[in-house]
Amino acid sequence: MTTTPKLVFFDGSIVPYSEAKIGLMTHGLHYGTGVFGGIRGYWNDKHMQMYLFRPFDHYERFLNSAKLLRMQLPYTKEKLTQETCELIQQMEYRENVYIRPLAFYGDEIIGVRLHNLTPRVAILVVPFKPAINTQKGAHVTVSSWRRVDDNIIPARGKVCGAYVNSALAKTDAYLSGFDEAIVLDNSGHVAEGSAENVFILRHGVFVTPPITENILEGITRRTLIHLIQNELGVQVQERSIDRTELFLAEEMFLCGTGVQIIPVTQIDHRPVGSGAVGPLTHKLMELYGSVVAGNVESYASWLHAVY
Ligand SMILES: Cc1ncc(COP(=O)(O)O)c(C=O)c1O
Repeated sequence: MTTTPKLVFFDGSIVPYSEAKIGLMTHGLHYGTGVFGGIRGYWNDKHMQMYLFRPFDHYERFLNSAKLLRMQLPYTKEKLTQETCELIQQMEYRENVYIRPLAFYGDEIIGVRLHNLTPRVAILVVPFKPAINTQKGAHVTVSSWRRVDDNIIPARGKVCGAYVNSALAKTDAYLSGFDEAIVLDNSGHVAEGSAENVFILRHGVFVTPPITENILEGITRRTLIHLIQNELGVQVQERSIDRTELFLAEEMFLCGTGVQIIPVTQIDHRPVGSGAVGPLTHKLMELYGSVVAGNVESYASWLHAVY
């Protein structure tokens, strides 16, 4: 269970959570006209420091998502990062945290549109508690739901309303006994998980769908493409993936800020590779864990110290 934070950033200042209220008529609540982000802060006990992982990249995507909804937010990625640090400092967090920036149309009116509306911006920070055990390997299913298309609701933006698509896929998979869903796009190619990007290993090469295949342009995905090529010395191809390639993959994993890397060991009752966590996936999980925690000096430029 997520607990509510003591303080939040809302409408330009830091206020108690109990004072950051919105009305029932709020546009974003009715029509999903909002965008959000998800960033992690990792507490490093040895350094007595909290590191935000790639906050400028996350806030750049947040501002771009807002742009897709015609929102003009009066912030830069640097300013949003600074406000986030200030909020964490005031709450004195000394543990892993999850940061949720949110921008939504706050007008209390009826009427579906994106023009003549005023966005409001909030940042919430909560202690991070992992939802699923990411170590043991997940059993996933190919969802009967299709991914939202760029010409329907752009998947490259983190648009609040579009997450109904993710929720439908996730809950149907969960209620059928699976850990996660893999969602295909309208052409039948693999897009991503309900809220994670996907990689498979085929013939010793990692393959992941390109950013033109109706996926969120994941920061973890971008990070892992770099680490796979530069640290594991393995090639990465960004190309369309057919559904049946999932059944022939030697290794498979899902990735995202919250879950980091989830190894996939079964898909629709078929083992992935040997049915155990793949050796390259395992290596990557260890490496990624060290990088985000601030234990790999050469990747310090991806981290932003809070204290
Ligand atoms: C639909 C979707 N795909 C992929 C991701 C992974 O993105 P990131 O690595 O930037 O967290 C997320 C998580 O935000 C997501 O919601």
